[in-house]
Amino acid sequence: MKLSGKVAIVTGGSRGIGFATARILSENGATVVLTAKNQERLEKASSEIPNSLGIAADIKNKNDVKNVVSKTVAKFGQIDILVNNAGIFPKIKELHMIDEDEWNEILDVNLTGQFRFTKEAIPYLQKTSGSIINISSDAGLKAYQGFNADAYSATKAALILLTKCWALEYAKDKIRVNCICPGVVDTDMTKPFLKTQKDKEFMDNEHPIGRIGQPEEVGKAVLYFASDDASWTTGAILAVDGGESIK
Ligand SMILES: NC(=O)c1ccc[n+]([C@@H]2O[C@H](COP(=O)([O-])OP(=O)(O)OC[C@H]3O[C@@H](n4cnc5c(N)ncnc54)[C@H](OP(=O)(O)O)[C@@H]3O)[C@@H](O)[C@H]2O)c1
Repeated sequence: MKLSGKVAIVTGGSRGIGFATARILSENGATVVLTAKNQERLEKASSEIPNSLGIAADIKNKNDVKNVVSKTVAKFGQIDILVNNAGIFPKIKELHMIDEDEWNEILDVNLTGQFRFTKEAIPYLQKTSGSIINISSDAGLKAYQGFNADAYSATKAALILLTKCWALEYAKDKIRVNCICPGVVDTDMTKPFLKTQKDKEFMDNEHPIGRIGQPEEVGKAVLYFASDDASWTTGAILAVDGGESIK
């Protein structure tokens, strides 16, 4: 029980990487607040995770985000762990075809959304010397031929640098801030790219280990950063990607 007595917020906790992470944190003793936009999915998710509570919020809405943080503190008294995981993926297209509204939507969810949650949680993390884990992507580490999701890549690269900025800014409060860059993981987000056997083989082969990842493999890395096992680790960027980014 590496996280006994700890209270965690996992954004995008209703499915995929966020859901797997929330379950692993709960199995390790944490009380977990899951947040996501879709109420129904959120309720189902929290019913499957012991010691969890779902609080619906659109990460684009400042007041929704404030509500999640204040309800968490009102109910559980503290925040020790914030997992900035919620994210969306755009339609693949070259930069000159992207509409400005589409661009802004990705930035609003994947970047400003992480800012909103972090800003609200920091005063409570200062009290607990807590930990922030940002979920970026291999797409934030390098460019990939044909990937053509520029707004997404920009938000993920920004999150890598913000991890280092926040780690430095809040080291005085002993808040640790770390970041995980997954390769392709089997979730709803990647389903459209894994429709056929040929798609699957292509994606598997993109990863030197020979397969795409499972959400739990990212969740276990979150557990490491959230626990005292990583007590001297801050500002770290960890690729959890079957080797995809080293090619
Ligand atoms: N899957 C991959 O291959 C991969 C690779 C690298 C990085 N990542 C990153 O890992 C994170 C999780 O990805 P995933 O694959 O698990 O995605 P997913 O299965 O599509 O789940 C996305 C989660 O984010 C939530 N979300 C989306 N928009 C939101 C909004 N406006 N307000 C609040 N919550 C919102 C969703 O909530 P609802 O259920 O309410 O929609 C859902 O819980 C993302 O940041 C993604 O960029 C994923």
